[in-house]
Amino acid sequence: MVKAVVLGAAGGIGQPLSLLLKLNEVITELALYDIVNSPGVAADLSHINTPAKVTGYLPPNDGLKNALTGAHLIVIPAGVPRKPGMTRDDLFKINAGIVRDLATGIAQHAPNAYVLVISNPVNSTVPIVVEVLKKHGVFDPKKVFGVTTLDVVRASTFTSSISGSAPQGVRVPVVGGHSGVTIIPLLSQISPRHEFTHEQIEALTKRIQFGGDEVVKAKDGAGSATLSMAQAGARFSSSILNATVKGEAGIVEPSYVHLDADKEGGSQLRKTPSGVAKINSLGDINEYEKKLLEAAIPELRTNINKGVSFIADGS
Ligand code: NAD
Ligand code: LMR
Repeated sequence: MVKAVVLGAAGGIGQPLSLLLKLNEVITELALYDIVNSPGVAADLSHINTPAKVTGYLPPNDGLKNALTGAHLIVIPAGVPRKPGMTRDDLFKINAGIVRDLATGIAQHAPNAYVLVISNPVNSTVPIVVEVLKKHGVFDPKKVFGVTTLDVVRASTFTSSISGSAPQGVRVPVVGGHSGVTIIPLLSQISPRHEFTHEQIEALTKRIQFGGDEVVKAKDGAGSATLSMAQAGARFSSSILNATVKGEAGIVEPSYVHLDADKEGGSQLRKTPSGVAKINSLGDINEYEKKLLEAAIPELRTNINKGVSFIADGS
């Protein structure tokens, strides 16, 4: 039995993400939780002829508890999205509390599950989940992930739009966090190898770092990326399931994960591509990428501290 749970399942990301998870035949039970409309979304998806039994939950009658109990994998796209002119950090005020409360439910009812955090600002919401799980004594650093897969997906698309190669075949490691300069594409490690001019590398890096803004601007007040995010979230979920349920080896997915300060030479930067089994090093990075890393560290540190303080003293 493999139970997957979506928290925020009736939203712009939640609905298409739930659809894609319903199509994943490894999942036998799909629990959809939201503060509105989750039973409707569940009823709709339940007519699709794939194995997952779909159930919808609202907060009353222990809805969160019933959704979470027995979960193997939990994906969290709950919370408000950006409008033009906002940063992801502007969402902290509303989303921090939402994520804290959902993480408390996870600590109580699904402490062994893999937790995939989509809600922004990811750089701070992941530390919030980590601190809540630590507080309850159930934190496992190999089970909590900030989903940065959309940056990886964009990097493949934008890179291939310059090189002309097939986007599905291009793999670009993108490490760091998930906002502006904290997003660090390692274009020197593209596979298969590409030769770009320095100008092309600078332009690509900027486009990958600020790709989210393109969608926010185009949606013009109606939210941010939802469909591409759903695909990215489903891809990351599928990688976790393939590794942990099917036992497939050699799967590598970049993600924003917790690293202890002492293992990072004093830095609290969560920056490495991570597998469930092992966190890889950054590999050989060039001088340009070292500068990107230096630019990312202060902002990441601020974002991380903001999440940690929110749980430590509620501020
Ligand atoms: P949305 O407003 O369309 O959907 C959010 C859903 O969360 C709504 O259905 C809402 O009812 C639900 N919700 C609110 N409070 C809740 C609670 N306490 N418990 C359960 N559900 C709750 O927003 P969206 O476009 O789906 O975006 C969701 C979040 O994902 C935003 O914070 C956005 O910034 C973020 N996002 C992250 C990435 C990424 O790469 N990590 C990409 C795109 C969007
Ligand atoms: C994205 O990268 O598309 C998301 O983080 C949403 C946003 O606010 O840009």
